[in-house]
Amino acid sequence: MSKKQAIKVENLNKSFGKGDTFVDVIHNANFSVDKGELVALIAPSGAGKTTLLMMIGCVNEPNSGTIWLGDEKVYENRWLTKETRKIRREKIGFIFQAHYLIPFLNIIDNLTLLPQANKIDEKESHSRAKELLKYFDIADKEIAMPSQLSGGQNQRVAIARALMNNPEIILADEPTAALDSKRSVDVVKMLKKIAVEQDVAVIMVTHDEAMLPLCDRVLIIEDKKVVQKSNIKEIE
Ligand SMILES: Nc1ncnc2c1ncn2[C@@H]1O[C@H](COP(=O)(O)OP(=O)(O)O)[C@@H](O)[C@H]1O
Ligand SMILES: [Mg+2]
Repeated sequence: MSKKQAIKVENLNKSFGKGDTFVDVIHNANFSVDKGELVALIAPSGAGKTTLLMMIGCVNEPNSGTIWLGDEKVYENRWLTKETRKIRREKIGFIFQAHYLIPFLNIIDNLTLLPQANKIDEKESHSRAKELLKYFDIADKEIAMPSQLSGGQNQRVAIARALMNNPEIILADEPTAALDSKRSVDVVKMLKKIAVEQDVAVIMVTHDEAMLPLCDRVLIIEDKKVVQKSNIKEIE
């Protein structure tokens, strides 16, 4: 296992339901993502993009296969730990289409809420939050409320929140879907910058092909299989 490798998935399978409600979603997925990489995941609606992210994020249980996160094998035909929450807390940051900031908490309290719920020292989480707000150029918004920020600024706060625990992996499910094209480009460029500067692996689900040239690689779910396209041009 290389030091750079943050995610490795082997022969991963996922279906839902039984009998009439059976849906086969992911078939023998094999791929890996290194730290420093921004990888796009594209496929039509209902193809299993969110399901795949949620298996990597230890939220949805696969049916079979293997998942490595960093140098830890977390799943092999079953979870290898009872504490999937701990893995999520330590290794993973999630970003969604909506920012899900809490409207009645100011920006810094939104960032420190989860770390503090997880018993991280208040001073430590405050200094991490301040450092990230500075990094994202919104240091002056510390005590603003989410309603006082633009959509793009709130999404930056949501990205900062995903980085609060110094994750090795960022899983972003359509993070630009609610943004216009300029702001989408800004967010994707920011995700690439984070990948390189914070040494994290980022998987970003997107429907927007205009974002693909900004990514290092593209994974496509095609007929339940995860296919890698290293050259963005192959997609056309
Ligand atoms: N909890 C669930 N129970 C049953 N079926 C599900 C569940 N979650 C997702 N599915 C089904 O799995 C397929 C993939 O869904 P999803 O991963 O959300 O697709 P995408 O994110 O690519 O739009 C869909 O057919 C969806 O209906
Ligand atoms: Mg989805």
